Amino acid sequence: MEKSNIGLIGLGVMGSNLSRNIASKKFHISVYNRTTEVTDEFIKEHGNEYIHPAKTLEEFVDQLEVPRKIIILVKAGKAVDAVIEKLMPLLEKGDVVIDCGNSNFNNTLRRFDALKEKGLQFIGCGVSGGEEGALHGPSLMPGGTLEAWNTIKNIFESIAARDFSGGPCVTYIGDNAAGHYVKMVHNGIEYGVMQIMAEGYDILKNVYKLDPPKLSEIFKKYNDGKLKSYLFEISIEVLARKDEFEDGYLIDYILDRAAQKGTGKWTAIDALKQGEAIPTITEAVFARFISSHKDLRTNLSKKYQKEKIKTDMDLDTFVSTLEDALYAAMLSSYAQGYHLIREAAKENKWDIDIAEVSRIWEGGCIIRADILNVLHKAFEKANKDTHLFEIPELAKDLQRTIPLLRKTVTLGVQNGIPVSGLSTALSYFDAITSKQVPANFIQGLRDYFGAHTYKRTDKEGAFHTDWNI
Ligand SMILES: NC(=O)c1ccc[n+]([C@@H]2O[C@H](COP(=O)([O-])OP(=O)(O)OC[C@H]3O[C@@H](n4cnc5c(N)ncnc54)[C@H](OP(=O)(O)O)[C@@H]3O)[C@@H](O)[C@H]2O)c1
Repeated sequence: MEKSNIGLIGLGVMGSNLSRNIASKKFHISVYNRTTEVTDEFIKEHGNEYIHPAKTLEEFVDQLEVPRKIIILVKAGKAVDAVIEKLMPLLEKGDVVIDCGNSNFNNTLRRFDALKEKGLQFIGCGVSGGEEGALHGPSLMPGGTLEAWNTIKNIFESIAARDFSGGPCVTYIGDNAAGHYVKMVHNGIEYGVMQIMAEGYDILKNVYKLDPPKLSEIFKKYNDGKLKSYLFEISIEVLARKDEFEDGYLIDYILDRAAQKGTGKWTAIDALKQGEAIPTITEAVFARFISSHKDLRTNLSKKYQKEKIKTDMDLDTFVSTLEDALYAAMLSSYAQGYHLIREAAKENKWDIDIAEVSRIWEGGCIIRADILNVLHKAFEKANKDTHLFEIPELAKDLQRTIPLLRKTVTLGVQNGIPVSGLSTALSYFDAITSKQVPANFIQGLRDYFGAHTYKRTDKEGAFHTDWNI
């Protein structure tokens, strides 16, 4: 048998679809799964001349051309370490191990160093797009050495989704864990965007008393305009789907308790570690935590009645106001995520091109949206340290849409609708665009109770006041 161009371990949802994608591009791929029956089943259903099953890891490794390129797509965490441990003794200097799972970037840093010590290359590659993306073209975010990236470049460029100009939704992100870091923030932004969308839905449903078909129609209108994106597109269907068991619509039977796999939380934790503010992303994580307390919420809701609905905006005006509010809040969520990536890049010495990151998110991934093409083009002209709010064409949009976000937040607050995503998107904007924030007051208090000193606006140095005199 001719040697395979690449190998893949882990034929679960993602692994089986990604293998089929690679084979469809006429690359020979060897596949291995811990449970052999899964491999047999996969070959029975999807086997073809490009897919080569292996029953043991030894057989699998032996089937691969040198330097070997091995994708791992198993459950993130201990399973990845278990696979690497078994694989290491079978590999040779220069072989490349690519973890395409949703691994925590700290684990990627550790694995990168451990493999480097053995003369092996390690790539941590973020993959977004779910099973459909894996099969038809995901957005891929590889991090590792440039040398390792060059060994998989042609395969990864072939299997990736396409951007707005038809280019591959993959680019070399940066050294060691840069790829998994960017994927983590991608998911954080996804949390933020879904939260602000859900809050818009909540206001439309509970203030304007709209039913699911009407809500679906409004999301369709949004998806036909500047909010056009995968998440708005699927909202149309999620809102319009009739229930299969009961009368009415499925959305009204889905329990209001949101699950999570942790990437939003990781983003929030890392932002705290770095001392960077990503309030909308963090609030989206908190909102999911609060959603999990269904019993407590139900009990408390009996004690605290909501006030009577107040709005002086007719529905048509609000639908258009909300469109602009969501646009502004989306830009604010992106601004927060991009700022975090930039600061993490400085800290970790990653050379991350944010225009390229925006480009590879244009297709394949969950947050793919027209807005990403706007960001891609805008950041191409900006310098590395530019904050999203500094970009002239976006500043123009924000100046027009922020007042509408303010109106939307006010409407939510007045009616007791929790709008933590929208309001933090707004207050992040308000704070980061304020020349003067009340931190002088905080410094005064700190100096009073703890002699922590403060700096002055008019003189150099640290000052302490004896507040008892
Ligand atoms: N599903 C998605 O939409 C999605 C999207 C992006 C990224 N991801 C990430 O992709 C990765 C795989 O996800 P998935 O949804 O494809 O998982 P999955 O369907 O649950 O499959 C898990 C795979 O891991 C293997 N595995 C588990 N523990 C193992 C161990 N100790 N040693 C060797 N193999 C082990 C399983 O092998 P057995 O058959 O032997 O149990 C199986 O092949 C995860 O990191 C996930 O977070 C998933």
